[in-house]
Amino acid sequence: MTKCVAFHSYKGGTGKSTISSNLSAALAKKGLTTVLLDVDVYAPSLQDYFQWQPKKSINDYLFENAEIDEVIHDLSTVLNKFPSNDGEQSDSSKGKLFVAFSSTSKDEIYKLDGAVRQEGSKIQLLRKFLMLREEIVAKYNADFIIIDTSPGIRYWSINSLAIADTILLSLKLDGIDLKGTRLLAKEIYESLTKLGTKSYLLLNRAAGYCLPASLADQQSSSAQEMYNNTVGNQATVVSKLNEDIGMDTILSIPCYCDIQFDSNEFLTALKFPDHPFAGKIDALIEKLKNI
Ligand SMILES: Nc1ncnc2c1ncn2[C@@H]1O[C@H](COP(=O)(O)OP(=O)(O)OP(=O)(O)O)[C@@H](O)[C@H]1O
Ligand SMILES: [Mg+2]
Repeated sequence: MTKCVAFHSYKGGTGKSTISSNLSAALAKKGLTTVLLDVDVYAPSLQDYFQWQPKKSINDYLFENAEIDEVIHDLSTVLNKFPSNDGEQSDSSKGKLFVAFSSTSKDEIYKLDGAVRQEGSKIQLLRKFLMLREEIVAKYNADFIIIDTSPGIRYWSINSLAIADTILLSLKLDGIDLKGTRLLAKEIYESLTKLGTKSYLLLNRAAGYCLPASLADQQSSSAQEMYNNTVGNQATVVSKLNEDIGMDTILSIPCYCDIQFDSNEFLTALKFPDHPFAGKIDALIEKLKNI
């Protein structure tokens, strides 16, 4: 049965696109058929990420200017650029990575935004969006549909959450994000949970990886102690957070400076299978398989 997982967040820049792209490619590399949808219709980024210029986009599909096969792009060849882990070889050749992109054209973004402000066209577009999921399930026999959305309470993000079985709400641990996440949990996730959707927090860019260079050669200092406390307290932080927001944390991913300062992060989990980030993506896959 197809599993549909949507990434959402209150604030921008919490790692939705990075994690959803790495997760999708890693799933396909493990032999699973995966369809990644860029439903960040206001600020799509996956065309840039995959360096792909699609002739037809999800926008064309929604306005009935394209059939499903024209908007779902087979990017499986990307997977061959990366080494396979031992034992993955046979499965990995069966895996498929499909991606559907949102249009980056300003006119198309305005057109979609305008159409959802009119009741008649809004319902028509919503029907087509539901059909997109159904057609992917029926024609592509997908194991996973992964949806990247816009941050905040936006029309297409909420629709994406509504068609997902599992929602992953990524957040960084700062005050504003916490307040907003609490709001999302109350206003949106609570009602979806009643309908059977599962939702989890996904902590990203948490503490625990990099030791600032200035501290690395110091055996003991108050700064070092503070660093150790921050890292050591993560478990307490997570359990307090779960209680506060009323959701469980599926995974906590540290802030990896080498990713943050990479001018062009691209499928790190596949490029560097020994990197701890790849281990985190694997752990996420195992958890999602068992939900
Ligand atoms: N665990 C991490 N460690 C370090 N850098 C990270 C990590 N996760 C993501 N990043 C970096 O953070 C930046 C923002 O990530 P990304 O674009 O995936 O966020 P987003 O939630 O999709 O943003 P938006 O809401 O604007 O679409 C990127 O430069 C990415 O490489
Ligand atoms: Mg994004």
